[in-house]
Amino acid sequence: MVFDSKIRPITWENGMSKMLDQTIIPYEYKYVNITTGQDMFDAIKNMIVRGAPAIGIAGAQGVVLYAQEGRGIYNNIDEYKKWLLEKADYMSTSRPTAVNLMWACNEQKEVIKNSTSDVEGLIRELTDKAIEIEKDDIERCIKIGEYGAEVVPQGATILTHCNAGALATGGYGTALGVVRSAYAKDNTIQVFADETRPRQQGARLTTFELAMDGIPVTLITDGMCSYFMSKGMIDMVVVGADRIAANGDTANKIGTYTVAIAAKYHNVPFYIAAPLSTIDTSIKTGKEIPIEERSHEEVTHINGKRICAEGINIINPGFDVTPHELIAGIITEKGILRPDYHKSIAEAFKS
Ligand code: MRU
Repeated sequence: MVFDSKIRPITWENGMSKMLDQTIIPYEYKYVNITTGQDMFDAIKNMIVRGAPAIGIAGAQGVVLYAQEGRGIYNNIDEYKKWLLEKADYMSTSRPTAVNLMWACNEQKEVIKNSTSDVEGLIRELTDKAIEIEKDDIERCIKIGEYGAEVVPQGATILTHCNAGALATGGYGTALGVVRSAYAKDNTIQVFADETRPRQQGARLTTFELAMDGIPVTLITDGMCSYFMSKGMIDMVVVGADRIAANGDTANKIGTYTVAIAAKYHNVPFYIAAPLSTIDTSIKTGKEIPIEERSHEEVTHINGKRICAEGINIINPGFDVTPHELIAGIITEKGILRPDYHKSIAEAFKS
């Protein structure tokens, strides 16, 4: 039995993208229609849709939106394809860290390059690919959940950081997919959710979707995790990922690295849950992962109100990199990869 979440953060309907506006949850639960490529670029950048797999789906849909806009503008299919390939590259720059976005835009570029159809045929092929990426993502997450549930101890308290749930994917979740699958087998497990400053994905989104599914969740602030680990109250950590290097170093939401260090110190197993599309085998180590720098207002303001003095310095990296030595396993749709990650990652791509 799969304990499903009914949340579908992004779908394709009637030639447009329909997405849940994640900037206003939990105050409002509202879908918005995205009808142009530029609007999709902005929706990804402004985090109306967020989470690595979900922005991959969004990027693929964004290429379809551009394809529709380009109808009738070009005299021949080669000019149209050249323009569309440029738009796919542009779409992939809307956020720099999550590799799923580049991966999905590249999938669409392959469709464009390999297509022998006319404009309308190509639009249909790109639409089919975007829908396939969305559906595949849910299936991948369910598999991740099933593999991950095997390492969740009976009655465990699981700590997570940020939101790697239904809202961040096609609709089941990676880290929260593990929680959902484990909960379906053992309803005595519970979750501790880090608040996740500055955008509060843990407080606003993780607690929202777990509460919706009736899974017990306790909200803590980011600095509290080592306190609860020292009390023996956390049995394992599961988080998502935005990009995993060939050696297993993993970029995820800022603050994840701190949790991983605390987990190592307290002998709490620290797991990453992510589809293979999050692994970037073209880069050797986490040092090569580009880290997004976001607006200073995310740090200086809460709900539009300034919380600090004027005239101070601000730095706001959106992600950090957890070294592979701190990671007990990477839970993928092909099973749990263990150290040596060089070998286990390479093997996962072969099979
Ligand atoms: O900035 P966000 O909210 O897009 O960051 C999201 C995360 O860091 C998630 O943990 C990651 O993308 C995995 S989502 C399954």
